[in-house]
Amino acid sequence: MDIVALSGSVSNKSYNTALLNAISQLSPDHINVTVLESLQNIPTFSPDIEDQLMPELVASFIDKIRRADGLIICAPEYAHGISGVLKNALDWMVSSDALVLKPVVIMTVSTSGLGGVRAFSSLVQILSAMNSHVVIDASLCIPYAKLKFDDSLNLVDEITIKAIDVSLLSLERTIDQRNA
Ligand SMILES: Cc1cc2nc3c(=O)[nH]c(=O)nc-3n(C[C@H](O)[C@H](O)[C@H](O)COP(=O)(O)O)c2cc1C
Repeated sequence: MDIVALSGSVSNKSYNTALLNAISQLSPDHINVTVLESLQNIPTFSPDIEDQLMPELVASFIDKIRRADGLIICAPEYAHGISGVLKNALDWMVSSDALVLKPVVIMTVSTSGLGGVRAFSSLVQILSAMNSHVVIDASLCIPYAKLKFDDSLNLVDEITIKAIDVSLLSLERTIDQRNA
């Protein structure tokens, strides 16, 4: 089973990217989690750009998501919303079929006590508008990031590690049901 994982943060010291790296390491052998490249080089979306003129980088990014069995998005919350780079990347996919019925797990990691729940709920709305299958019971809001990761950005919180196991199981079940 091939899962791609997308970070909504372009920070070099991102907790959200660190969570994706942890998920990739914790996933069982039969679930291959590939962390996609940083969104920082994705150009600004414009609806005036025809499909044939879509930048190669964007086309290849969308293709990786289209071919995957499922997608995990880990997103920071900025000013009670999602990051601009993430919204921009999603806007590129609105008129494609890449996310239609795709099982998508949303995770938000925040240094605050609310765990990025407002970005989480915004992502549920955006992905629903794109007809994705948001796997709510596999999705997580993770608060107080500084307590969950060590100084080298290794995930050290046992409860979060358990929650990731459960989340991957739930995503796997959803994909199996979809493919049955
Ligand atoms: C400009 C800015 C705005 C932020 N706004 C919020 C916010 O609205 N809610 C929140 O929970 N955290 C907020 N934070 C804190 C982020 O949760 C924290 O920086 C987190 O580590 C960002 O994710 P990252 O480490 O993956 O980049 C903000 C951080 C920055 C830099």
